[in-house]
Amino acid sequence: PLKILSTLITVASLLTSSIHALAAPVEIKFSHVVAKNTPKGQMALKFKELVEQRLPGEYQVNVFPNSQLFGDNNEISALLLNDIQFVAPSLSKFERYTKKLQLFDLPFLFENMDSVDRFQQSDAGLKLLNAMKRKGIVGLGYLHNGMKQFSASSPLVVPADARGKKFRIMASDVLAAQFLTLDAIPVKKPFSEVFTLLQTRAIDGQENTWSNIYSKKFFEVQGYITESNHGVLDYMVVTSNTFWKSLPDDKREIIKSSLDEAIAFGNQIAAAKVKKDRESIITSKRSKVIELTPEQRNLWVESMRPVWSQFEAKIGKDLIQAAVESNK
Ligand code: LMR
Repeated sequence: PLKILSTLITVASLLTSSIHALAAPVEIKFSHVVAKNTPKGQMALKFKELVEQRLPGEYQVNVFPNSQLFGDNNEISALLLNDIQFVAPSLSKFERYTKKLQLFDLPFLFENMDSVDRFQQSDAGLKLLNAMKRKGIVGLGYLHNGMKQFSASSPLVVPADARGKKFRIMASDVLAAQFLTLDAIPVKKPFSEVFTLLQTRAIDGQENTWSNIYSKKFFEVQGYITESNHGVLDYMVVTSNTFWKSLPDDKREIIKSSLDEAIAFGNQIAAAKVKKDRESIITSKRSKVIELTPEQRNLWVESMRPVWSQFEAKIGKDLIQAAVESNK
């Protein structure tokens, strides 16, 4: 009877553990630094919705916005440790892992978002998704945010207006060089600190997209926004090789197609926000939007273009050429 009892106990415990396994979905953590009402915030929520709809009870996607779980300084390391499974840092934030993506930070490289999209979807652009493979980072797709504008506590109309001013930048040497050519002072800081730095006047200005300036309320603490469209702020959605390889083939396929659809959705939001968030900022009257004449804008182009030659060797001439060609 003792033997029967112990067999029964073993069977019972096996049953419980398999029921438990059935009951607990695999958690996928998606961490990001922006607000929910942004292209990236909305894309992540769409991804959650699609994965949970298509793999019900098997996978659960938890999205952590606003740097609440990890921020700029640690989200990629956390990804590599498999503490989180998805992040979508701006293309400026991969410098430690590849120099190729520095391409996207070159000032006045892309004329508009159509050019950016054409380049990203070209052979050269798609190849860059694999640029960090050896570092254990798998690039799954590009996501748009938009073109960057300058904001500052004083009006920036001509390049000389930036002289001696401190600007927060993302951790990118190209962006540092861009402000140095203006004789300004670049300060690398995580996104989560920008509002306070601007509010306390510890820094004078920053560069960002309309949606980030709006959703993080930078326009409430910066008197002026210069509509410069001088560079692009886009993202690469990445996962770790460790996580990606651990997925069964059929599940990986469903997760990838859900992501592709979520990115397409996020791109629509990005396009809409360029207009909408810009309008909301203008109607708020908290910040004055400065539109540049073609002559004034040309002065910025001339001042900042020398940055290209500084990084040409690291990025590669061919890659820069391919990007320039996407403007046609
Ligand atoms: C920034 O740091 O300004 C942006 O990269 C934030 C973001 O993710 O859009």
